[in-house]
Amino acid sequence: MWFRGAALLLVALVQIVLCVPEYYNVLGVSKSASEKELKSAYRQLSKKYHPDKNPGDTTAHDKFVEVSEAYDILSDAETRKVYDRYGYDGVQKHKQGGGGHHHHDPFDLFNSFFGGGGHFGGGQRKGPNVEVRVAISLRDFYNGKTTEFQWEKQHICEKCEGSGSADGKVDVCTSCNGRGMKIVKHQLAPGMFQQIQTQCDVCGGRGQVIKHKCSVCNGAKVIRKATTVPLTIARGALPGTRLAYENEADASPDYVAGDLIVNLVEKEPSPEENPDRLDGVFFRRKDNDLYWTEVLSLREAWMGDWSRNLTHLDGRIVSLVRERGQVVQPGHIETVEGEGMPKFHEDGDSVYHQTEFGNLYVEYIVVLPDQMESGMEKDFWAIWQKWKGKIGVDLHKDSGRPEKPIVHEEL
Ligand SMILES: *[C@@H]1O[C@H](CO)[C@@H](O)[C@H](O)[C@H]1NC(C)=O
Ligand SMILES: [Zn+2]
Ligand SMILES: [Zn+2]
Repeated sequence: MWFRGAALLLVALVQIVLCVPEYYNVLGVSKSASEKELKSAYRQLSKKYHPDKNPGDTTAHDKFVEVSEAYDILSDAETRKVYDRYGYDGVQKHKQGGGGHHHHDPFDLFNSFFGGGGHFGGGQRKGPNVEVRVAISLRDFYNGKTTEFQWEKQHICEKCEGSGSADGKVDVCTSCNGRGMKIVKHQLAPGMFQQIQTQCDVCGGRGQVIKHKCSVCNGAKVIRKATTVPLTIARGALPGTRLAYENEADASPDYVAGDLIVNLVEKEPSPEENPDRLDGVFFRRKDNDLYWTEVLSLREAWMGDWSRNLTHLDGRIVSLVRERGQVVQPGHIETVEGEGMPKFHEDGDSVYHQTEFGNLYVEYIVVLPDQMESGMEKDFWAIWQKWKGKIGVDLHKDSGRPEKPIVHEEL
């Protein structure tokens, strides 16, 4: 029986360890995280796990509570110090001793952070989505790429923490008593009035006025600045693909940020940017297929015995070969199976993804020589004269058209 006891003890130990959250890990920040980093971590995670966005998901709910608690403890310099020295138990004791002011309700904390009713939907409206177009080279569509792009995103002003005020003071608008709306009476006729509710012109509907505006945002609460966003392009992704980054659009203290939508478009090929000239300068894409134009001399088209080594978008060599005697007609289109684009698959780099490709279509163009040495010209002329009568084809006869133009007398 002793080992069962030991097992139970072990289970109990494991549970104790699991029950105590590691606050820095919960927020995904380092032990030396700045106040700003804590804030940004809480801002992101609390929105991600908010129960309004994860209805019925108890794991998300627990995470939301955990994130709130972690931020609550670490954002207060005093409790953070206690936590760093004495850990979770120390903080609990400290709280029991009445240390610090803390939010017991995670929704209160969310509320005080974002303003509004602590919820999405009802109190917290969602800001507008923002769509940006990002131009991707054909080579990157072929190989897939992890990259990044920049855009001018609206941020909550860090100087005033989104209050818009230099001294932190925000006054209730006296014109509308903080309601943001005013009732205006219109006289329609003697004794007849119409009441219209309009937005307060003094505070612009905010219900607040700021005497000393923040020097950075000039009272706007927000500023725009270049923001870098990571971007992963799946192998074979199609132009026109739209990727959504939830709550990554313009931020504001007045609403929960909308979604940033990234629209992938194909970049115009540019030989300057691609000295090795792989980058779609010669390849053209249509859905999952690629197109290529190859130029042959008259001799090659007619007599065969040539090869071309195309460098594909991933640097591999694709050989086009004709033996002596293999004729290629002008305008002929050769299908090279499996040398088109990788076929995009939802499961990312799945087995299909690695093995399914579109086709490569090579169109041949034949150029005739417009300059010959006179000796060469004479030789060719002689050969033509010699063979013309023997196996020459009468193109006119072959065409099936009448021998002579037919004249209709009546006309
Ligand atoms: C293409 O590559 C093959 C094999 O390496 C080689 O034999 C051939 O000469 C190359 N053709 C050209 C035009 O470089
Ligand atoms: Zn007002
Ligand atoms: Zn500001």
